Amino acid sequence: MIFLTTISLLVSAGVGIATPTGRPLPLVIWHGLGDAYDSEGIQGVANLAQKVHPGTFVHSIYLDPDSDGDRSATFFGRVDEQIATVCSQLSAIPELTSGFNAVGFSQGGQFLRGYVQRCNNPPVKTLITFGSPHNGIADFLAECKPTDFVCRTASSALRSSKWTPWVQNRIVPAQYFRDPEDLDAYIEHSAFLADINNERPGERNKTYAENLGSLERFVMLMFEDDTTIVPKESAWFAEFNKTTGERTLVEDRELYKQDWIGMKKLGDRKRLEFVTAPGRHMELSEELLTGLFKKYLGGRVDGEKMGLWVQGVGF
Ligand SMILES: *[C@@H]1O[C@H](CO)[C@@H](O)[C@H](O)[C@H]1NC(C)=O
Ligand SMILES: *[C@@H]1O[C@H](CO)[C@@H](O)[C@H](O)[C@H]1NC(C)=O
Repeated sequence: MIFLTTISLLVSAGVGIATPTGRPLPLVIWHGLGDAYDSEGIQGVANLAQKVHPGTFVHSIYLDPDSDGDRSATFFGRVDEQIATVCSQLSAIPELTSGFNAVGFSQGGQFLRGYVQRCNNPPVKTLITFGSPHNGIADFLAECKPTDFVCRTASSALRSSKWTPWVQNRIVPAQYFRDPEDLDAYIEHSAFLADINNERPGERNKTYAENLGSLERFVMLMFEDDTTIVPKESAWFAEFNKTTGERTLVEDRELYKQDWIGMKKLGDRKRLEFVTAPGRHMELSEELLTGLFKKYLGGRVDGEKMGLWVQGVGF
């Protein structure tokens, strides 16, 4: 169900409020597919961040000030251009000048990583991504509401001809499609992911690795029962073999070992965090978000140890 990536924020009682020691770092949010910058879910997240760290300046990224237009831009457009637009948008916000923390939901998290690698001016300090397809999606499991014309149009274009320039230039999720069983087509035709993951031999961009490697922290959350992002391990940059069911964690992949994008630099500095959350894609509880925000946002890099759902993997 790749299209149902709007946040469902399950409200629970008893939110702890941290006392900030200084002015908290600003926060930038990028929403997911089918969502909009001013949706109820995104506003809930912004409010929660401000509750946890009072005084936080929050900016929600938009590609169109109109909600419907913004939602439409999550399906249609060229990701390269969208990221360029966001680079100018963020550079024009005075509150962000000295850097900010960033939270991205689903594809929004992957695109924020694109912002870091391509622009990072002003720079991101801590990047948290929720169920983001960093290693692509190997399947389209579209499930659109019968009345959702935008979703259905995108979906049928994806199914018919994902590697044609027409689709790669217009349909957003096609630009991060990646089937490990069919890497040649991907390397040749992918309009976004193959570039941002620096997978093309001979064309590896050093700036990408320098920029991502400069993060203070990169937190990647994977939903345990995610059936929307296929494979769900993509949220951790892991490779998944659908024949054997074997998963290769990022540190065992060439992307890491040869440090194509700066992940190893971060790993060596112990700045990578692999987190799991119970539930399906974008099923976020207020409790979970509060814990993450306390630990990682507000400008403090080293928070107190969190509860059960935090899982440091290997390094
Ligand atoms: C590498 O990426 C940076 C940032 O997007 C860009 O300015 C530069 O032109 C790229 N270099 C090459 C060789 O493509
Ligand atoms: C998955 O595993 C099988 C069996 O070991 C292997 O033949 C195949 O090449 C693997 N696929 C990928 C994409 O590595």
